[in-house]
Amino acid sequence: MSSDSRFVPLVLKTDTEPHMNKIFISSACKFLSLVFFFALISYTSSAQEISAEPAAIKAGESLFNANCKACHRVKTKLVGPALAGIESRAPSIDWIIDFVHNSSAVIASGDDYAVKLYNEYNKTQMTAFTGLKNEDILNILAYVKAEAEKVDAPPTPGGSTAAGPVSSTPSEYLNIILIGMVIILLLILIILGLLVSALKRFLDQKELSVEDREMVHSPISISSITRSPGFIFIVVFLVAALGFKAVINGLFSVGVQQGYAPKQPIAFSHKIHAGQYEIDCQYCHVGASKGKNATIPSVNICMNCHNQIKQGSLTGETEISKIVAAYENNKPIEWVRIHNLPDLAYFNHSQHVNVAGVECQTCHGPIETMDVVRQHSLLTMGWCIDCHRKTDVNTRGNAYYDKLVELHNMKSKAPMKVEEIGGLECSKCHY
Ligand code: HEC
Ligand code: HEC
Ligand code: HEC
Ligand code: HEC
Ligand code: HEC
Ligand code: HEC
Repeated sequence: MSSDSRFVPLVLKTDTEPHMNKIFISSACKFLSLVFFFALISYTSSAQEISAEPAAIKAGESLFNANCKACHRVKTKLVGPALAGIESRAPSIDWIIDFVHNSSAVIASGDDYAVKLYNEYNKTQMTAFTGLKNEDILNILAYVKAEAEKVDAPPTPGGSTAAGPVSSTPSEYLNIILIGMVIILLLILIILGLLVSALKRFLDQKELSVEDREMVHSPISISSITRSPGFIFIVVFLVAALGFKAVINGLFSVGVQQGYAPKQPIAFSHKIHAGQYEIDCQYCHVGASKGKNATIPSVNICMNCHNQIKQGSLTGETEISKIVAAYENNKPIEWVRIHNLPDLAYFNHSQHVNVAGVECQTCHGPIETMDVVRQHSLLTMGWCIDCHRKTDVNTRGNAYYDKLVELHNMKSKAPMKVEEIGGLECSKCHY
């Protein structure tokens, strides 16, 4: 500063201790700028520090899974870039917040970084998340950072959502019982054979009459076996058991479409989308937590990703080009409906998914492992009623139930079942 020519006249005028003055001015400048600098840093960092709090990371994880996971992973590229290290790569935290709120506005503003990224990703539009608060986005970043710092653990098998309790059908049990019985019968036969030969050896050592000796050594013939009551019993038992199994199987499939898995117009695979790429069910089935129908996604939702992902690795380009064709001709894809209750019954998804918190897999089975969707549950009235008898109502944090729970607790200590809130009333399920 002392060499700055603009200060020269000043120094000439004040001839009393010019040196001290200069030092004073320059150190005051330094001091002020330092104060300003630190204030700036502490301001920005207090507002936008990426937290390492477990609570923030947890909140971020569920926000990330619900909103971002369809297109982003932390460490690998998917539809959008891998987000690991984003806090040091992007121009600023503010930039990230703006971009997440409305990426197209940032791109439209001509921001270099955004435009470059947008072109690099074949002009794929990222969804605008105007509903996310700044704090939410900071939580997501906290999760991304924590996740990026984790050492790679072996991948968890079976996709994002753990399958709920899967009920096995009666016929599976019957098979196990039948196999068990056959094994037990064989064991009994072997033991009997051993006993017979031991007895024979024992009797040989005794003094026996000629007749008795003949009896003991009479050869075992096939006809003597088939005429024995034991053999007849075994045969009758096996035939009866097989017949019983067939009848039960038949009864269970009367008017029931369990296992129905029609061929679809496009070979859409839940195993790839929901399993391998862990796309959230409700990213596509948006109605499930909002209303009666879970809804099948429109072509637009497919195109969010498939205007970029064109190459199908398994079936070549044909299946994907069907999506593009449907999109360009503005024609809906005609999916074949699989689950279908008769008109007389009323079923509401949001009541079960949103209010009760039942997992999709509890009713639909391990969809994320299916290349072709098949109907997993019976979907009979007995099936609905059975679950309403067994399942507790999810009353926590639901003020609607407070009064009911109070009443219920006066009567019994057991948790309140769906049965007790009217889950067995005909009119609840029938129009
Ligand atoms: C529909 C797919 C999609 C979803 C959902 C999505 N993104 Fe993106 N995101 C992209 C794409 C594609 C890009 C690349 C830029 C572009 O094309 O606009 C991107 C870019 C980004 C970037 C900049 C990355 C970089 O390397 O600089 C950030 C940050 C980001 N996304 C955060 C999020 C967050 C947070 C969420 C969830 C709240 C989210 N995204 C949800 C598709 C998506
Ligand atoms: C990328 C979008 C997408 C995702 C993610 C997705 N689905 Fe689907 N789902 C579809 C499409 C498209 C169909 C219709 C074609 C078919 O049956 O395969 C469908 C069909 C279904 C059906 C059968 C509908 C009928 O006709 O009865 C069920 C049940 C289902 N999905 C459940 C799930 C569950 C549970 C998940 C999460 C584990 C999930 N889906 C994730 C797109 C998706
Ligand atoms: C969130 C992103 C996303 C959405 C939404 C999405 N897909 Fe995909 N899809 C993918 C990815 C990733 C692949 C795997 C590409 C690969 O393996 O090369 C894929 C692959 C496919 C394939 C090829 C499978 C194969 O055999 O290789 C088909 C067909 C397909 N998707 C159909 C659809 C349909 C129909 C929809 C809309 C209901 C849809 N996708 C929605 C991401 C998405
Ligand atoms: C309590 C059992 C139950 C749960 C939980 C459940 N579903 Fe369903 N789902 C059904 C029944 C029953 C039908 C047939 C409804 C009808 O025909 O009216 C059905 C039908 C569907 C259909 C096709 C028809 C439609 O409604 O659009 C889709 C897609 C679907 N479910 C997806 C899902 C997804 C995704 C979830 C989780 C978010 C889920 N379901 C959770 C029982 C369930
Ligand atoms: C996996 C268990 C399960 C199955 C299967 C199931 N439900 Fe439910 N259902 C519930 C639970 C839990 C509730 C309580 C929701 C709540 O808190 O309001 C419920 C509530 C209901 C209600 C509202 C009852 C009321 O008094 O408010 C109706 C209607 C209903 N279910 C219809 C059906 C029908 C129809 C089926 C068969 C197609 C079915 N449910 C299958 C678990 C199930
Ligand atoms: C939890 C829901 C639920 C409740 C409560 C319920 N039903 Fe049902 N009911 C169903 C469903 C779902 C079907 C269709 C089953 C199928 O397609 O196999 C059905 C089918 C029926 C049928 C057979 C119709 C046919 O086509 O075969 C009759 C009759 C019936 N219900 C009467 C009743 C009566 C009477 C009550 C009250 C005592 C009642 N239901 C309570 C869900 C329910």
